[in-house]
Amino acid sequence: MQSSSITPKVCILAGSPRKNGNTASLLRPFSEALEQRGAAVERIRLHEKTVKPCIACRTCQNIPDAFGCPYDDDMQSVFLSVLAADCLILACPIYSWYCTAPMKAVLDRLVYGMNKYYGKIQGLSLWKDKTAALFLTCGYRIENAVSPFRTGMINYCRHSKLRYAGMFAARDRGYAVPFMTEEKAAGAADFARRLHDRLITRDTDAEPISVSIE
Ligand SMILES: Cc1cc2nc3c(=O)[nH]c(=O)nc-3n(C[C@H](O)[C@H](O)[C@H](O)COP(=O)(O)O)c2cc1C
Repeated sequence: MQSSSITPKVCILAGSPRKNGNTASLLRPFSEALEQRGAAVERIRLHEKTVKPCIACRTCQNIPDAFGCPYDDDMQSVFLSVLAADCLILACPIYSWYCTAPMKAVLDRLVYGMNKYYGKIQGLSLWKDKTAALFLTCGYRIENAVSPFRTGMINYCRHSKLRYAGMFAARDRGYAVPFMTEEKAAGAADFARRLHDRLITRDTDAEPISVSIE
């Protein structure tokens, strides 16, 4: 459930292997703009965590009110961070038209651990009504590069009863071209401000926010 806090809690799942890479460079102005508006931001670097892939044991499906995953790895704490947040940001470079492998492992562990749809008694979505948004970087033209993952995540949000709030995406023009520009930094901050407004107003009918910078 979404908390009623006017200080929204934002949990960023950061899926790049590069600590100071393109996605991380853009997360700086994004996080700063959120914090300036009073949000509490937690960033989790997934490549620093041990998150095994889901093996479809379905143990979690019969534990209706908790994660319930028998794996004793870092996903236990990632789950609690996501559960405590009002808003989840999936921040990731596009790899092979989708997300990186650690991000995919987290998404699989959450889609079963959070959604108790397949147990002996059908249960609830534990993260119903939280907000989720995408924060992506890619090398190819943005629409071509992000559309499989964006489509997947819109479906994922609907299935999980999350509120899909939109996408920020920025393009990497290649190894010879500096990635960061003033336009990209301003775009990331603008996305943060609009997302923050969405979290405060809880406008459930609003169209997804879309900011793309080629
Ligand atoms: C293994 C690998 C696969 C990639 N696959 C794609 C892809 O399918 N589409 C795309 O647009 N960019 C792709 N890229 C480019 C990255 O998405 C892009 O450079 C991104 O900005 C890197 O972000 P980072 O520095 O935060 O890791 C790929 C990069 C790597 C290393």
